[in-house]
Amino acid sequence: MIDLHSHILPGLDDGSPSLAESLEMARLAVADGTTHMACTPHITPGVYENGTSTIVRAVQELDQVLRRAAIPLALYVGADIHITPDLPDQLALGSMPTLNRSRYFLFEPPHHVLPPRLEDLTVRLINAGFIPILTHPERLTWIKANYDIIERLNAAGCLIQLTADSIIGAFGRTALYYSEKLIDEGRVDIIASDAHSATRRRPGLSQAVAVAAKRCGEDEARNMVLKRPGEILANRPIEPVGKARQPRPNPTTGSRLGGLGRFFKGATA
Ligand SMILES: [Fe+2]
Repeated sequence: MIDLHSHILPGLDDGSPSLAESLEMARLAVADGTTHMACTPHITPGVYENGTSTIVRAVQELDQVLRRAAIPLALYVGADIHITPDLPDQLALGSMPTLNRSRYFLFEPPHHVLPPRLEDLTVRLINAGFIPILTHPERLTWIKANYDIIERLNAAGCLIQLTADSIIGAFGRTALYYSEKLIDEGRVDIIASDAHSATRRRPGLSQAVAVAAKRCGEDEARNMVLKRPGEILANRPIEPVGKARQPRPNPTTGSRLGGLGRFFKGATA
């Protein structure tokens, strides 16, 4: 399997704190069936000031250590890029890395606040030739009141990545609800671990794939961790699976939120 989202590089963010931890994470990933992993530390202005050169160097160093330890995990350069208004320029300049120098990159909106002009930024990125992969929308607290925005980003050409732990319920019932909804609506392009350590948010995709397969079938679940991530690393074109979909107004209320109001009446987030 191919895991396109991990915080395995040591000391660059809130992921692995040490080389020993990174090695353990790599062992766990391989034991679970992961063969290829993108190293995607946070790039968050003012918090994690990582850039392409730092990340490339860290990937090369970890790669050498894995080879010496005979751990068969192929590493790729990437980043978990927090949204910033100048993102199209930063990507075009190469100061922030896409996934394996492809046109695809991990696009992380703030968890608790819907940023203004998110759709404008997404369209600017797509028009500049990049393909954003929206990271774990199921875990964003603002998804409840703004599901229509996720639909429109998806329709505009934004890919959708679920976190493996969300699908198995480890992020709570709201993240599970939206994981299932996104899978059932055929919007999920890839599943990734977003692994942060060997104990908390561990690497591994197999459990999530097994759960996803029950909802969308084994072939499609495999596409989420093998076929599509492979195409992304190879910079081949793929159609976002949800792109053909358009937000549908609820026929009874006119709301685009469908049945969510009913669901959240008793929800605690
Ligand atoms: Fe992440």
